[in-house]
Amino acid sequence: MYSERVERYAQYLPSLKLLKDEKTADAVCGVWEDMLKQSPWKSIEEARFKEGYDDVSLVSHVNSTVECALSLSRIIHKYHGIEFDEQRIITFGLLHDVDKVIEYEFNGERQLVKSEIANKIQHGVMSAILAYQNGFDSDMLHMILTHTTESKMRPQIKEAILFGYADLCDWDLVCRYSAH
Ligand SMILES: [Fe+2]
Repeated sequence: MYSERVERYAQYLPSLKLLKDEKTADAVCGVWEDMLKQSPWKSIEEARFKEGYDDVSLVSHVNSTVECALSLSRIIHKYHGIEFDEQRIITFGLLHDVDKVIEYEFNGERQLVKSEIANKIQHGVMSAILAYQNGFDSDMLHMILTHTTESKMRPQIKEAILFGYADLCDWDLVCRYSAH
């Protein structure tokens, strides 16, 4: 049975309930909860995707990338027989951008801007710290830390390589064509 916290967060991140291991699902929520405590947002749906894109929620990007990555993995498996760990794709997808919660904020003119932490700490690092504190292993930390072009180290895990394309696809299309 999922924890009360998973039930609550799954209203915004429905793929939490695709995780078969309830402890992993709860630990993912722990990372989000710890990050939200440090943020200006009252609840998860207030967190934003990127500076200048006030209308795009962070959860819409996370949900889109998880679904895109799962679809991609199934298609590549169908045609090439490559096996992917879907549980790992979902867990990583749910965690990969959680530090965006603290990377953007509204300034005095109600403009969404990069926060001080975003200007000082490389994307992925705060997510990895909180993932470590919530019990995630070095493979998951590697995936989080290397998913950004800011990282000099590139992903070495199949699911992370696949996820990178889904993440970039959603990011690029939203940046170009979303209403903002
Ligand atoms: Fe992302």
